[in-house]
Amino acid sequence: MSRAQFATRLGVIATTVGSAVGLGNIWRFPYETGVHGGAAFLLLDLFFIFIIGVPVVCAEFIIGRHTGSNIRGAFRMLAPRQAWGWVSYIGITASVLILSFYSVVAGWTMHYTVKSVAGFSDNTSTEALHAQFDSFASGNILPMLWTLAFLAINYLILSRGVQKGIERMSNILMPILFAILLLFTVNSLMMPGAKEGLMFLFSPDFSAITPSVVLGAMGQAFFSLSLGLGCLITYSSYFKSDTPLLRTALITAGLDTFVAILAGMIIFPAVFTFGQQPEAGPKLVFEVLPSIFADMAGGVVWSTLFFLLLFLASLTSTISMAEITIAYLCEEFRMTRRGATALSIGVAMILGSLCALSFGVLGDMKVFGLTLFNLFDYTSSNILLPIGGMIISLFVGWKLDRSVVISELSAGGGRATKFATRIVIFCLRWLAPVCIAMVFIFGLNIF
Ligand code: PHE
Repeated sequence: MSRAQFATRLGVIATTVGSAVGLGNIWRFPYETGVHGGAAFLLLDLFFIFIIGVPVVCAEFIIGRHTGSNIRGAFRMLAPRQAWGWVSYIGITASVLILSFYSVVAGWTMHYTVKSVAGFSDNTSTEALHAQFDSFASGNILPMLWTLAFLAINYLILSRGVQKGIERMSNILMPILFAILLLFTVNSLMMPGAKEGLMFLFSPDFSAITPSVVLGAMGQAFFSLSLGLGCLITYSSYFKSDTPLLRTALITAGLDTFVAILAGMIIFPAVFTFGQQPEAGPKLVFEVLPSIFADMAGGVVWSTLFFLLLFLASLTSTISMAEITIAYLCEEFRMTRRGATALSIGVAMILGSLCALSFGVLGDMKVFGLTLFNLFDYTSSNILLPIGGMIISLFVGWKLDRSVVISELSAGGGRATKFATRIVIFCLRWLAPVCIAMVFIFGLNIF
């Protein structure tokens, strides 16, 4: 079977960035930063993205492009009959869990898009916006239907295949998203609470750092880079042989961070201007943004556009999550693309509905003190992705033939790649695994 490839270099960047940029930046980053006290969390996040994340992104790219295979097939090729291959099951589990809770939030963005067109109610006081969100999210049927609708759209795109569906969509959407975020940032910077908001985001209070904050920042970095679950292995299996891997990893991490910081610069000035609470949790963005729009001239248009783009950015991310399992099912079990898509999306529909209900009727059903939604988020981001990342890093650092690592990293690159390659290998062998292990030991209080 001849495999699909992304057609152009722009396509490679747009799809990889499309996977990385999504709710992780615009919804999860601001709320996690808010919960964990602001700037110190951002600093840790930056450390994990650039020092640990980028090398591990390279590791996934090396595995994916070298094998040109799905996540399970890749490890079978590189380390036949060895335990390394188990990491693919960690990845598949994480992708199913993330797809399920993520679709709930993506469903919220769809609801808010429609609501924006209809116009929010006249009462846009902070209390009224809180009440509106709470009554929607706890309403059971409506959030569940939106979750299902979102997943159905995923099905329609994914069943059409890699190039037609995924690449074309990302090329158009990502640039528009960047432009509109910049515009909103300027708007937020002119608010009376701008200074306080920026202080919260950029002026670190190191006493806020606890082991669990460090664990949260590591989870956020992995989540935001779509890292540790084989998503980038799967995508890079569609890269051409001359796509420069390190450069692609750096561009992805750079743009991903840029969008998260813009989201912070949009949200926090507004939080302080409108007297809201930065530590509101998952609902933060959905309560703060409408108050921004209510204050803007032409707010209806802006708010519609914003939630629509947020929905589309989520779509480019969920497509990459689902692609892990779909490529796996198609190639390992010879399922048709359509059948594999139906199975993956079907499972997510069941689990996603349960997550949607965990804001309503299932709110009291708790495992380890967490609702299903929070449990899926916590275990996948803070535990499964870093474990997956650690194994992938050890694999490429120690097990994979050094010549493969070097030739993959230097393909399409200039002279500087030699030095960079050494740094990447050092990070994969030592820095990333040791850091991840330490964060686990302290963050989860293992001893
Ligand atoms: N990185 C995506 C985001 O920030 C989420 C994601 C996680 C996508 C894991 C794929 C795999 O929204």
